[in-house]
Amino acid sequence: MAVKSSAIGTRRPLTIAIDGPAGAGKSTVARQVARALEYTYIDTGAMYRALAWTVHHNGVPTDDVDAVVTVADELDVRLMPGDTDEFTTRVFVGDDEVTESIRTPAISQLTSALSTIPGVRVRMVDAQRRMGLGGGVVMEGRDIGTVVLPSADLKVFLTASPERRAKRRQAELAERGIAIPYDTLLREIVERDTRDASRDVAPMVPAADAHILDSDPYTASEVVQQIVNWHEEALARG
Ligand code: DC
Repeated sequence: MAVKSSAIGTRRPLTIAIDGPAGAGKSTVARQVARALEYTYIDTGAMYRALAWTVHHNGVPTDDVDAVVTVADELDVRLMPGDTDEFTTRVFVGDDEVTESIRTPAISQLTSALSTIPGVRVRMVDAQRRMGLGGGVVMEGRDIGTVVLPSADLKVFLTASPERRAKRRQAELAERGIAIPYDTLLREIVERDTRDASRDVAPMVPAADAHILDSDPYTASEVVQQIVNWHEEALARG
């Protein structure tokens, strides 16, 4: 698998792992933390989504595990910082920009299903570890603190209530002109959480040494500030 990502800046590099369920605000927060610290932001969910998009786009049978793993082997993903005011990553598969098309509810469900395949995870984890090697990264996903970067300098597990996450997803989709009923999103979130948390390989659980942060009572900037403070403490600890 070939993956490239562009650095936002450089600084004395620590590694920061931000994990948590869908819609807890991880992407917004992780990207803002990366911007504040001039670190590289890596959205690992976008890599799994790019795989699902490719499988779907090429008509690969989704139950043919070997064929899906071959797609993972050959996947050529590029992650690039989005516009300054937008906290999205631009995602390319080969020459195709898939930034928008990997975010549909159908691709979300397919991504969650394909990410349970051990052969897929091995390839993703390998690529993600290589991206984290030099430090100076904020890597966001489900298994970063537990599997991908178990010795990350700072680990955060960001949660929020399913209701708040469904509302947030609805607002994000509405901004892109996609109207999905709240109840549907809530059901999908709960389904996806259950599958992500109960799969055999790398289930979504907080690392033993992660800071668990419930974002419900806080604004995104307050959450960012808390993580930046923890980063300063980690730096001071050396
Ligand atoms: O963060 P996201 O919603 O874009 O992630 C999409 C799916 O990818 C999610 O259902 C679980 C999977 N995923 C994963 O299994 N491991 C990761 N490190 C990141 C995402």
